[in-house]
Amino acid sequence: MKNFIFIGAPGAGKGTQAALVRDELKLAHISTGDMLRAAVKAGTPLGEQAKQYMDAGKLVPDEVIIGLVAERLQEPDVDQGSILDGFPRTVAQAEALQQMLSEQHIELTAAVLFDVSEEAVVQRLSGRRVCKSCGAIFHVTNNPPKETGVCDVCGGELYQRDDDEETAIRQRLASFRKDTEPVLSFYDKLGKLVTIDASASPAEVNERFKRFLATLG
Ligand code: AP5
Repeated sequence: MKNFIFIGAPGAGKGTQAALVRDELKLAHISTGDMLRAAVKAGTPLGEQAKQYMDAGKLVPDEVIIGLVAERLQEPDVDQGSILDGFPRTVAQAEALQQMLSEQHIELTAAVLFDVSEEAVVQRLSGRRVCKSCGAIFHVTNNPPKETGVCDVCGGELYQRDDDEETAIRQRLASFRKDTEPVLSFYDKLGKLVTIDASASPAEVNERFKRFLATLG
């Protein structure tokens, strides 16, 4: 059973790679960003609380997000293996996750850093389009849908995320540097950190991930 954490700056391609790997390895894909956006859309109290942080590009408080992940890890699909996409993002979240995994006897395979320059992430985020219905991710030039504004997978409408505007992008990059970069040292010390150069095309980054998988035996 494989259990991965996908880490990277906003727009590094975590969601894009997670969608490819989840389908190939039949893993549960746990994206805290997607879970929060679903709560916002549903208008739940959690969604209302999270929205103000997300729109500003700030991290949602640790206690909120840790509770959300703890609940999600109880679901049966996690027994097949999982990808945590966008969690943990602070050292407090990483410590809480270690505790949860050890209580559930789940072994972390690797924390995978998708490494890409800030210039590239700004280009990726400013052109991103996401399907309102199924969440599939596109890019106006890097990965355009066949028909403008329409999802190739389900025919749903594509939209631009509220936090993909310049001020929020800058704040998200600042949060990554300040709060999430220390998480890299946390996993490095545990011997679990793997870095993949994510500056190439999505297909090539996926190949690089597969080459890493092959080393696991
Ligand atoms: P979240 O949704 O996790 O946002 P993020 O980390 O900022 O990451 P993104 O989803 O923006 O990018 P990605 O790396 O998945 O890139 P993608 O594959 O889409 O979180 C949103 C907010 O929720 C946070 O700001 C925070 O408020 C809150 N939150 C979530 N988790 C939290 C936590 N743990 N703690 C506290 N708060 C939390 O790709 C981006 C674009 O690039 C796409 O258009 C894609 O088509 C394109 N692309 C992808 N790969 C490539 C490639 N290799 N080459 C060229 N283009 C590419």
